[in-house]
Amino acid sequence: MSQPMLYVFDAYGTLFDVHSAVARHRALVGPEAERMSEIWRTKQLEYTWTRSLMGAYRDFAGLTEDALDFAAARCGGISAEARAKLLSAYETLDAFPDVVPTLKALKAKGARLVILSNGTPAMLESAVRSAGLDDLLDPSISVAEVGVFKTDFRVYERVGARYGVAPADVSFQSSNRWDVAGASRFGFRAVWINRSKAPDEYRDMPPAAVLDGLAGLLEQ
Ligand code: LAC
Repeated sequence: MSQPMLYVFDAYGTLFDVHSAVARHRALVGPEAERMSEIWRTKQLEYTWTRSLMGAYRDFAGLTEDALDFAAARCGGISAEARAKLLSAYETLDAFPDVVPTLKALKAKGARLVILSNGTPAMLESAVRSAGLDDLLDPSISVAEVGVFKTDFRVYERVGARYGVAPADVSFQSSNRWDVAGASRFGFRAVWINRSKAPDEYRDMPPAAVLDGLAGLLEQ
Protein backbone atom coordinates (compact mmCIF):
# COMPACT_ATOMS: atom_id res chain seq x y z
CA MET A 1 0.00 0.00 0.00
CA SER A 2 1.56 3.31 -1.03
CA GLN A 3 -0.67 5.49 1.15
CA PRO A 4 -1.78 4.69 4.66
CA MET A 5 -5.46 3.71 4.64
CA LEU A 6 -8.00 5.89 6.33
CA TYR A 7 -10.24 4.08 8.80
CA VAL A 8 -13.27 6.02 9.99
CA PHE A 9 -15.17 4.72 13.00
CA ASP A 10 -18.64 5.35 14.31
CA ALA A 11 -18.39 6.00 18.07
CA TYR A 12 -21.47 4.98 20.03
CA GLY A 13 -22.24 1.28 19.82
CA THR A 14 -19.14 0.64 17.69
CA LEU A 15 -16.16 1.75 19.81
CA PHE A 16 -18.07 2.58 23.00
CA ASP A 17 -20.62 0.35 24.70
CA VAL A 18 -23.69 2.56 25.19
CA HIS A 19 -25.14 0.10 27.68
CA SER A 20 -22.15 0.36 30.00
CA ALA A 21 -23.61 3.50 31.63
CA VAL A 22 -26.68 1.73 32.96
CA ALA A 23 -24.63 -1.41 33.66
CA ARG A 24 -22.46 0.61 36.05
CA HIS A 25 -25.46 1.88 38.00
CA ARG A 26 -27.82 -1.08 37.67
CA ALA A 27 -28.61 -1.21 41.40
CA LEU A 28 -29.49 2.48 41.50
CA VAL A 29 -31.74 2.20 38.44
CA GLY A 30 -33.63 -0.88 39.60
CA PRO A 31 -35.15 -4.00 38.04
CA GLU A 32 -36.02 -2.32 34.72
CA ALA A 33 -32.41 -1.28 34.09
CA GLU A 34 -31.84 -3.23 30.85
CA ARG A 35 -35.19 -2.20 29.36
CA MET A 36 -34.51 1.42 30.27
CA SER A 37 -31.08 1.31 28.63
CA GLU A 38 -32.61 -0.07 25.41
CA ILE A 39 -35.30 2.63 25.34
CA TRP A 40 -32.70 5.30 26.13
CA ARG A 41 -30.63 4.33 23.08
CA THR A 42 -33.63 3.85 20.77
CA LYS A 43 -35.13 7.25 21.64
CA GLN A 44 -31.75 9.03 21.40
CA LEU A 45 -31.39 7.77 17.82
CA GLU A 46 -35.04 8.48 16.92
CA TYR A 47 -34.53 12.10 17.96
CA THR A 48 -31.50 12.39 15.64
CA TRP A 49 -33.55 11.22 12.65
CA THR A 50 -36.70 13.25 13.34
CA ARG A 51 -34.78 16.43 14.09
CA SER A 52 -32.66 16.02 10.96
CA LEU A 53 -35.82 15.67 8.85
CA MET A 54 -37.33 18.75 10.49
CA GLY A 55 -34.16 20.83 10.36
CA ALA A 56 -34.42 21.24 14.14
CA TYR A 57 -30.90 20.41 15.31
CA ARG A 58 -30.28 20.02 19.05
CA ASP A 59 -26.91 18.61 19.98
CA PHE A 60 -26.37 14.96 20.88
CA ALA A 61 -25.72 15.73 24.56
CA GLY A 62 -29.16 17.37 24.72
CA LEU A 63 -30.81 14.48 22.91
CA THR A 64 -29.10 12.02 25.22
CA GLU A 65 -30.67 13.83 28.19
CA ASP A 66 -34.09 14.03 26.53
CA ALA A 67 -33.97 10.32 25.70
CA LEU A 68 -32.93 9.38 29.24
CA ASP A 69 -35.82 11.39 30.68
CA PHE A 70 -38.29 9.61 28.40
CA ALA A 71 -36.81 6.16 29.09
CA ALA A 72 -36.80 6.74 32.85
CA ALA A 73 -40.40 7.97 32.83
CA ARG A 74 -41.42 4.93 30.76
CA CYS A 75 -39.75 2.62 33.29
CA GLY A 76 -41.22 4.09 36.46
CA GLY A 77 -38.79 6.95 37.08
CA ILE A 78 -35.28 7.30 38.49
CA SER A 79 -33.82 9.50 41.22
CA ALA A 80 -32.03 12.78 40.50
CA GLU A 81 -28.86 11.05 41.73
CA ALA A 82 -29.29 8.19 39.24
CA ARG A 83 -29.98 10.64 36.40
CA ALA A 84 -26.83 12.62 37.16
CA LYS A 85 -24.70 9.47 37.48
CA LEU A 86 -25.99 8.00 34.21
CA LEU A 87 -25.34 11.20 32.26
CA SER A 88 -21.89 11.44 33.77
CA ALA A 89 -21.20 7.76 32.93
CA TYR A 90 -22.16 8.50 29.33
CA GLU A 91 -19.10 10.74 29.12
CA THR A 92 -16.80 7.86 30.07
CA LEU A 93 -18.40 4.83 28.43
CA ASP A 94 -16.45 1.57 28.31
CA ALA A 95 -14.69 0.81 25.03
CA PHE A 96 -15.34 -2.72 23.75
CA PRO A 97 -12.40 -5.03 24.59
CA ASP A 98 -11.25 -5.32 20.95
CA VAL A 99 -10.94 -1.54 20.46
CA VAL A 100 -7.51 -0.76 21.93
CA PRO A 101 -5.68 -3.81 20.49
CA THR A 102 -7.21 -3.42 17.01
CA LEU A 103 -6.65 0.31 16.77
CA LYS A 104 -3.05 -0.13 17.97
CA ALA A 105 -2.41 -2.78 15.33
CA LEU A 106 -3.97 -0.71 12.53
CA LYS A 107 -1.96 2.30 13.59
CA ALA A 108 1.22 0.19 13.63
CA LYS A 109 0.51 -0.70 9.98
CA GLY A 110 0.53 3.02 9.14
CA ALA A 111 -3.24 3.59 8.96
CA ARG A 112 -4.91 6.86 9.96
CA LEU A 113 -7.81 6.45 12.34
CA VAL A 114 -10.62 8.88 13.10
CA ILE A 115 -14.09 8.95 14.63
CA LEU A 116 -17.07 10.36 12.67
CA SER A 117 -19.95 10.64 15.11
CA ASN A 118 -23.22 12.21 16.08
CA GLY A 119 -21.58 13.05 19.43
CA THR A 120 -20.59 16.58 20.37
CA PRO A 121 -16.87 17.42 20.30
CA ALA A 122 -16.86 17.54 24.13
CA MET A 123 -18.57 14.16 24.51
CA LEU A 124 -16.21 12.55 22.02
CA GLU A 125 -13.11 14.07 23.56
CA SER A 126 -14.12 12.80 26.97
CA ALA A 127 -14.96 9.28 25.75
CA VAL A 128 -11.74 9.03 23.75
CA ARG A 129 -9.63 10.22 26.67
CA SER A 130 -11.24 7.95 29.25
CA ALA A 131 -10.80 4.92 26.97
CA GLY A 132 -7.12 5.80 26.44
CA LEU A 133 -7.49 6.25 22.68
CA ASP A 134 -6.05 9.78 22.35
CA ASP A 135 -2.73 8.65 20.90
CA LEU A 136 -4.35 6.36 18.37
CA LEU A 137 -7.02 8.58 16.86
CA ASP A 138 -6.94 11.87 14.96
CA PRO A 139 -9.19 14.58 16.47
CA SER A 140 -12.78 13.38 16.08
CA ILE A 141 -15.11 14.67 13.37
CA SER A 142 -18.45 15.64 14.92
CA VAL A 143 -21.76 16.31 13.21
CA ALA A 144 -21.67 19.63 15.08
CA GLU A 145 -19.67 20.87 12.06
CA VAL A 146 -22.81 20.63 9.92
CA GLY A 147 -25.70 20.76 12.43
CA VAL A 148 -27.45 17.67 11.13
CA PHE A 149 -27.15 13.98 12.05
CA LYS A 150 -26.30 10.78 10.21
CA THR A 151 -27.39 9.61 7.68
CA ASP A 152 -27.45 13.04 6.03
CA PHE A 153 -24.66 12.99 3.42
CA ARG A 154 -23.35 16.33 4.70
CA VAL A 155 -22.05 14.34 7.66
CA TYR A 156 -20.18 11.73 5.59
CA GLU A 157 -18.83 14.53 3.38
CA ARG A 158 -16.87 15.89 6.36
CA VAL A 159 -14.34 13.08 5.91
CA GLY A 160 -13.40 14.17 2.37
CA ALA A 161 -13.44 17.79 3.50
CA ARG A 162 -10.85 17.00 6.21
CA TYR A 163 -8.64 14.48 4.38
CA GLY A 164 -9.21 15.15 0.68
CA VAL A 165 -9.91 11.48 -0.02
CA ALA A 166 -12.49 9.93 -2.33
CA PRO A 167 -15.28 8.03 -0.51
CA ALA A 168 -14.21 4.71 -2.07
CA ASP A 169 -10.79 5.07 -0.38
CA VAL A 170 -12.36 5.28 3.08
CA SER A 171 -12.99 2.22 5.22
CA PHE A 172 -15.96 3.14 7.42
CA GLN A 173 -16.84 0.94 10.39
CA SER A 174 -20.13 0.95 12.27
CA SER A 175 -22.15 -1.48 14.37
CA ASN A 176 -25.29 0.48 13.52
CA ARG A 177 -26.71 -1.13 10.40
CA TRP A 178 -28.59 2.08 9.43
CA ASP A 179 -25.29 4.01 9.57
CA VAL A 180 -23.64 1.35 7.40
CA ALA A 181 -26.52 1.77 4.93
CA GLY A 182 -25.97 5.54 4.79
CA ALA A 183 -22.20 5.19 4.49
CA SER A 184 -22.52 2.54 1.77
CA ARG A 185 -24.97 4.67 -0.22
CA PHE A 186 -22.63 7.63 0.17
CA GLY A 187 -19.83 5.58 -1.37
CA PHE A 188 -17.60 4.58 1.55
CA ARG A 189 -16.30 1.05 1.84
CA ALA A 190 -18.72 0.37 4.70
CA VAL A 191 -17.94 -2.43 7.14
CA TRP A 192 -20.69 -3.66 9.46
CA ILE A 193 -19.31 -4.65 12.86
CA ASN A 194 -22.12 -7.00 13.82
CA ARG A 195 -21.14 -8.02 17.35
CA SER A 196 -24.69 -8.96 18.31
CA LYS A 197 -25.32 -11.13 15.25
CA ALA A 198 -28.32 -9.00 14.30
CA PRO A 199 -30.26 -9.97 11.17
CA ASP A 200 -29.49 -7.97 8.04
CA GLU A 201 -31.64 -5.03 6.89
CA TYR A 202 -31.38 -2.20 4.33
CA ARG A 203 -30.52 -4.92 1.84
CA ASP A 204 -30.32 -2.53 -1.11
CA MET A 205 -27.48 -0.72 0.75
CA PRO A 206 -25.19 -3.60 1.59
CA PRO A 207 -21.96 -3.51 3.62
CA ALA A 208 -18.70 -4.22 1.81
CA ALA A 209 -17.94 -6.65 4.63
CA VAL A 210 -19.56 -7.97 7.79
CA LEU A 211 -17.32 -8.70 10.78
CA ASP A 212 -18.17 -10.04 14.23
CA GLY A 213 -15.70 -7.62 15.85
CA LEU A 214 -13.08 -5.03 15.00
CA ALA A 215 -10.19 -7.52 14.98
CA GLY A 216 -11.39 -8.77 11.59
CA LEU A 217 -10.18 -5.48 10.09
CA LEU A 218 -6.62 -6.76 10.48
CA GLU A 219 -7.31 -9.65 8.11
CA GLN A 220 -8.77 -7.43 5.34
C1 LAC B 1 -22.65 7.86 16.48
C2 LAC B 1 -23.99 7.22 16.73
C3 LAC B 1 -24.52 6.59 15.53
O1 LAC B 1 -21.68 7.68 17.23
O2 LAC B 1 -23.99 6.30 17.71
O3 LAC B 1 -22.59 8.59 15.49
